[in-house]
Amino acid sequence: MSSKRILFTGGSGKAGRHVIPYLLKQGHQVLNLDLVPLDHPAVDNLSVDITDSGQVFNAMTSYANFSELEPGIGVQKFDAVVHFAAVPRILLKPDNETFRVNTIGTYNVIEAAVKLGIRKVIIASSETTYGVCFTDGRSDPEAIPVSEECDTNPMDSYGLSKVLNEQTARSFQRRSGADIYALRIGNVIEPHEYPMFKEFPKNPESRRRNFFSHIDARDLGHIVDLCIAKDGLGFQVFNATNDENSLDIPAQELADTYFAGVPCKTDLGEYEALLTNRKIREVLGFKQQHNWRDYLG
Ligand SMILES: NC(=O)c1ccc[n+]([C@@H]2O[C@H](COP(=O)([O-])OP(=O)(O)OC[C@H]3O[C@@H](n4cnc5c(N)ncnc54)[C@H](O)[C@@H]3O)[C@@H](O)[C@H]2O)c1
Repeated sequence: MSSKRILFTGGSGKAGRHVIPYLLKQGHQVLNLDLVPLDHPAVDNLSVDITDSGQVFNAMTSYANFSELEPGIGVQKFDAVVHFAAVPRILLKPDNETFRVNTIGTYNVIEAAVKLGIRKVIIASSETTYGVCFTDGRSDPEAIPVSEECDTNPMDSYGLSKVLNEQTARSFQRRSGADIYALRIGNVIEPHEYPMFKEFPKNPESRRRNFFSHIDARDLGHIVDLCIAKDGLGFQVFNATNDENSLDIPAQELADTYFAGVPCKTDLGEYEALLTNRKIREVLGFKQQHNWRDYLG
């Protein structure tokens, strides 16, 4: 595995604080751009507001640390950009601010990366693009399992911002020929959160908006690393979830009970996540390392 120089945005948050250590363990070097630093001895931090294009361009042409001054060969280009910085859901900021930060921030990051000749960009999109998670009332996806082919038409500002970010990525990919991969990330679970899986059976309906699916934050690191390693795919979207549903209920039973009437396009694996990760398994070779069942004793 070759070591890459990676610029990561939003690495101090819930997902980034597990993804970055995973990338460091694979031998990569990471510069984290965030409003607040990530407290990790091996990561370099730069305080950057991604809604300011000047700051983003500048940071992307920056030394990552003092040791990079030593060879006397100037600033080296980043091999890849991983863009996670965002307002990560509705109801944290007013809707227009969520939309502004996420769309302008993502435009700035992708534009700078592409114009500076960086050939690999990975952006955090979301399960919410499918329009069920933050819908008013109850709505259905186009099909079960929810795959990357399903329609994306959310009614909330956060999901909308992620749909537009995917289009921004697609547009810049077309212009540049770089590889830009968007991860439709499921509900991120940190290791200390597994005890709450014991509560899910008491109210399965509470997991419907996430399609009864999730992604272990460390397995998300594995997915990002696979995206860094896999070249030549152009623009891609990938669901980023674990293999199994987050409930001890067979997938077909979940589909019949909670998504009655939604076309089921294929045979479901016994406990397969209804937000399916088939594409990352088949295209990237993803093999999950953290099954929720192993954490409940
Ligand atoms: N947590 C989930 O379940 C989930 C699910 C799907 C998608 N996502 C996406 O994954 C990414 C990471 O999510 P998270 O849960 O770690 O979110 P988080 O809020 O914990 O982390 C986001 C980070 O972005 C930084 N940030 C926000 N605005 C910024 C700005 N203007 N400039 C620079 N940095 C800024 C924050 O300081 C924070 O450290 C986001 O893009 C989010 O939309 C998260």
